[in-house]
Amino acid sequence: MKVLYVCAELYPFLKTGGLADVSAGLAPALKDLGCEVRLLLPAFPAITNVAHTLRPVAPLPKGASPWGPSPALPPADVVLATLPDLDMAVYLVRAPALYARPGNPYLGPDGKDWSDNAQRFCALGWTAATLGQGLDPDWVPDVIHGHDWHVGLAPAYVRAFAEAGCDTPATVFTIHNLAYQGLFPSPLFPTLGLPANFFSITGLEYFGQVSFMKAALQYADRITTVSPGYAREILTATHGFGLDGLLRERAPALSGILNGVDYQVWSPATDPLLPRTYDVNTLSDKAAAKHTLQTRFGLEPRADALVFGVVSRLTEQKGLHLLPQVMAELVRHGGQLAVLGQGDAVLEQAFADAAIHYPQQVGVCIGYDETSAHTVLAGADVILVPSAFEPCGLTQLYGLRYGTLPLVRRVGGLADTVVDCALENLDAQTATGFVFEELSAKGLLSALQRAFALARRPHEWRAVQQHGMSLRFDWQTAARHYLALYRSLRPHANSFTGPHSGSSGDAHQPDFSV
Ligand code: ADP
Ligand code: GLC
Repeated sequence: MKVLYVCAELYPFLKTGGLADVSAGLAPALKDLGCEVRLLLPAFPAITNVAHTLRPVAPLPKGASPWGPSPALPPADVVLATLPDLDMAVYLVRAPALYARPGNPYLGPDGKDWSDNAQRFCALGWTAATLGQGLDPDWVPDVIHGHDWHVGLAPAYVRAFAEAGCDTPATVFTIHNLAYQGLFPSPLFPTLGLPANFFSITGLEYFGQVSFMKAALQYADRITTVSPGYAREILTATHGFGLDGLLRERAPALSGILNGVDYQVWSPATDPLLPRTYDVNTLSDKAAAKHTLQTRFGLEPRADALVFGVVSRLTEQKGLHLLPQVMAELVRHGGQLAVLGQGDAVLEQAFADAAIHYPQQVGVCIGYDETSAHTVLAGADVILVPSAFEPCGLTQLYGLRYGTLPLVRRVGGLADTVVDCALENLDAQTATGFVFEELSAKGLLSALQRAFALARRPHEWRAVQQHGMSLRFDWQTAARHYLALYRSLRPHANSFTGPHSGSSGDAHQPDFSV
């Protein structure tokens, strides 16, 4: 089974959030199952700076497609490359006019979307589809698997080729976040080189605009999202971001497959970024990480302080606007707060103000830093993820692994992965963290109070930590579900079942697919 995995981010080379972690975890796990996986990425400087070109593939086709003109794009070509420590080949679309810009892949230095994002990601989708048509005659994918709106046009082009009578690969599209849709003004449509009838309500037209996300939802053979809970939620008006009607229509093609964790990167027993490693049997050594965290974030180094951590994009999605409202209570109970994040200027300011208002009890680091992320996830007692919506969420899974109890809102992937410390769950030894319902300061406060209450029962706290640390959310499980999906679409494509296929092999391993 040849799978072309198309995305805009790849850890550790280029990352703005969980999307990069998923590419780094899922693609190799698919390979371990016997899929022949190749990645396709834009040639952003963060990638080209470290890539080693194996061979040129071809210039990106211009001129006529079977149905009319192809996309209006600046000169571009495709090369096959390798990346350090990545055991699979990578196609890179090289279009310097579109991609040769350092920094964030989507935003300019002013924090606004690049004005030519439509062309930039049209080129990515077009490249994927033309690879599906044999742009590289040595390797033609059976399945094109695209991720998020950046790749939304790929299924549309593939459909256009199919309608023109060409043989085409199957398409799978994964929604990581429905809030970002890739919406562009309609005059852009003719430049995309799609059949004219695709700009319609049954195509990628969305209230007079072009929607890359809608293109994918309309034309992909299968749609997945990154947790079963989010797969259900996006069928509702509350979480559907205006696309719930279409998603309900496409419900038979939609499923939720829970993300995994790359335990080579996120394991306290081997983490080189920790002052002292620890595991489920040496949990007292976690104290060293806490001390480091307190020192780095300017917190009073009190071993008995209950430290709450945040590692997050600071956006409305993450529900962190609630935090300043409960800060006084948190500190009054003897708690401390360490925030690592960047994003919304108002939120950044609110946290910076809190650090001044509560010296040594609230520490804030505005920015993006991998090492500090590990410091917070290991050193905190509780990791806060009070999201308004959360397609999956990875930091709560990292928290579980590090014995750092997640405190989350009951939504999306958070609801699927964290079990509240209610008495009955403590009794049944299924509790792993703190879960609240209502997106309000009151809701958050109720969970904070449960955290303080459990902290006064250290034996129970330890038991909850140990249970969370024993759970596995590995990529092999997720990859098996994706492979089953590919096989349902291309039953005759070759792939061996791989050493792990067929059984979960781990009593703790839940089956999260719907
Ligand atoms: P999202 O993709 O919505 O941002 P996830 O929980 O899926 O949320 O993934 C977030 C990823 O980004 C995690 O790997 C987390 O550690 C990382 N991250 C978020 N903010 C920062 C930051 N300021 N510095 C370092 N890593 C961060
Ligand atoms: C998105 C979502 C997040 C998810 C990540 C990886 O950024 O916001 O919930 O974990 O993608 O799938």
